[in-house]
Order: sequence, then C-alpha cells, then structure tokens
Amino acid sequence: MTKAAVISGIGSSVPASVVTNDMLAERLDTTDDWIRRLTGIQTRHWIEPGQATSDLAVEAGSRAIESAGGEPPQAVVLATITPDRPCPATAPEVASRLGLEGVAAFDVAAVCSGFVYGLATGTGLIAAGIAERVLVIGADTISTILDPTDRSTGVIFGDGAGAVMLRAGEADEPGALQALDLGSDGTGTDLITVPAGGSRQRSTKSVPPTTDTYLKMAGREVFRESVRRMVESCEAVLERTGWDAADVDRLVPHQANLRIMNSVADRLGMPRDRAVVDLDRVGNTSAASIPLALARAAAEGTVESGHRLLLTAFGGGLTWGSATLTWPDIKPV
Ligand code: UT7
Repeated sequence: MTKAAVISGIGSSVPASVVTNDMLAERLDTTDDWIRRLTGIQTRHWIEPGQATSDLAVEAGSRAIESAGGEPPQAVVLATITPDRPCPATAPEVASRLGLEGVAAFDVAAVCSGFVYGLATGTGLIAAGIAERVLVIGADTISTILDPTDRSTGVIFGDGAGAVMLRAGEADEPGALQALDLGSDGTGTDLITVPAGGSRQRSTKSVPPTTDTYLKMAGREVFRESVRRMVESCEAVLERTGWDAADVDRLVPHQANLRIMNSVADRLGMPRDRAVVDLDRVGNTSAASIPLALARAAAEGTVESGHRLLLTAFGGGLTWGSATLTWPDIKPV
C-alpha cells in the first residue's frame, strides 16, 4: 500500500544579524512607517559576508532531525534559489555536513513556492519506496542578490532556513500530508527574475558591470497574481482534502506581504486572525518562509497539535502550491 508522508520534526535557523527598517531608511529612500504600513515587516535577518545558504540549511536541518527523534533521513531535498554556487547543487554538501553518507540529495528551484514543491517531492520519494525518511529544507539568502539601490525589493526580503522531517506513515495519522496542489505559469518568468548568470545571459567579466545579476521584481503585478493563484490553489487543495475553508484552524501562507495574506484570507472567507504571521520579524524569506512561520507558531502555541492547517505559497516562475495536514504533537528545536 502507498505510504503517506508524515511530518515528524521541525527546525529553523535565521542569521544573527538583525536589519531594522530604520537601518534600511538610512541608505534607501524609504521609511519605517511605509514599510510597516505597506508590508507589515519590522525586521529581517541578513547573513554576513562569509556565510552562505548551506550554513542556515545545515542548522535548520539538524534541528529538524533532532526534533524528529534523531533517526537520519535517506534523502535531503533542499528548496532554494540562492545556492552556495551555480554548480553543483547545495543539498549534497548540506547532507554531508549533517553526517549523512550516500543519501539522495538535490535542490529544488521553485523560488518562494520551493518548500511546498519540496514537500511534494518528499512525499513522492516516500510513496515510491525510495526513502522512509526525507529531510525537506527551505533555505534562501535573498540578501545576497538584492540590488542595493532598489527600495521595493530591498525592504521586503530576509534570509533564513526552515526544515521538516517527513517519515513514511499512514494517511489518517496526525502530521500526514492530506493533499497537495502545485502549479506554474512561465509566461510570468520576467515578473521575478535574476536575468544574468544563466545560459541565456551568461556571466561575463565585461565592462560596464550589469545590474542584471540582481533580483528584479514587478511588485504590483506579482501582488495581484499571488492573491489570485494562492486562493485558487487553496480552493483546489481544500476540495481534494474534503475540507471547507471553515474547517481550517490555521492558514500558513507564504510570508510576502501582510496585505497579500489578508486578501487571501478574505477571499477564502476566513477570519484574518486565522493566518499565521511571521514576516513582522523575518520579512519575506522565500523558500524558508512557510517552515519558519510554522516553527515559530508551533513554539509559541499559535499552532497546536490537532489544528487543521492549510499551507499556501506563491513565487517566481511563476509558481504556486498548497498543502493540507493536521498538525502533529511535535516540538521545534
Ligand atoms: O515572495 C514572492 C512574491 N513576492 C511578493 O509577493 C511581493 C509582492 N509585492 C509587494 O509586496 C508590493 O508590491 C511591494 C511591497 C513590493 C510594493 O508595494 P505596492 O503597494 O505594490 O507599491 P508600488 O510598487 O505600487 O509602489 C507604490 C508607491 C510608488 O510610488 P509612486 O509611484 O506612487 O510615487 C513606489 O515608488 O510606493 C513607492 N515605493 C516605496 N516608497 C517607500 C515602493 N517601494 C517603496 C519603499 N519605500 N520601500
């Protein structure tokens, strides 16, 4: 019989350096008031030179393994679009630094939807009998690709990593992923993009240097699309689960902007206070945002064992995805 994927542990990591809105206002044409009102963000964490995505991924991954009881996974899925280097993938290094020898390890690049894509990949590895336990990590350091002169991206993104352990189990257990929905629309490729450094616009040492190595985002269009796609994806996954919006105890949306999260809750007909909020302290951490929000909510008791959860994400690609589960009795480390 096909095995379900059950969340059995959770861990997270953010860099030590805190960047406040006022610190950003010293070098960008922005204010603490604008950032709070238009995004809901108060602080974010950025890595220092010398640190990298893998450092956060290893810490979050090790905590998730410990939270799950310490048994090692046979596969590591790392959702990131800020790998330590373009080649090879970062997951094998993360696995080795976690002391995991010979395990399957690869990166998944679905930008801010990466963690939900990672959950779906882990579910598939378990269902196919390839692994009994899979470590799914979402880790990004978007600060490393920010244009220092762009105030719209500069204020929203933060760095971090969050991870869950998945183990093979039964569909009716707490923690079992009930249903997943994934989607993409490549006609929106240019809405969130780092244009240079790939095969189309190759890295070059030519002068003058180009800002095309920085992240570019069409904020307003992305805002509109993200609400529409997350609502549609939530509706699809709720239908597959056999739940109504009213059955959901906590909505755990990708933490891009408080106004986006409120709009998604409104359109699903859910009270806004059912949405878990973490972006006030970490900003938009891309693939790390859902597991970071979950870890904090579980630690603070906003998410409790037995709560029915609806996770939903939207990001560059464009990509989106949602998942449902009942939260198990686990503690973040
Ligand atoms: O994580 C993956 C997906 N990413 C997202 O979901 C992010 C989605 N987008 C957003 O969250 C919002 O679009 C932003 C927060 C990035 C921007 O908010 P907005 O309400 O869409 O503002 P806007 O870009 O339409 O700009 C409105 C005004 C403009 O000024 P004018 O033209 O009206 O005079 C901008 O130049 O706000 C200005 N503005 C700023 N002002 C102060 C844009 N960024 C800033 C800023 N500080 N940081």
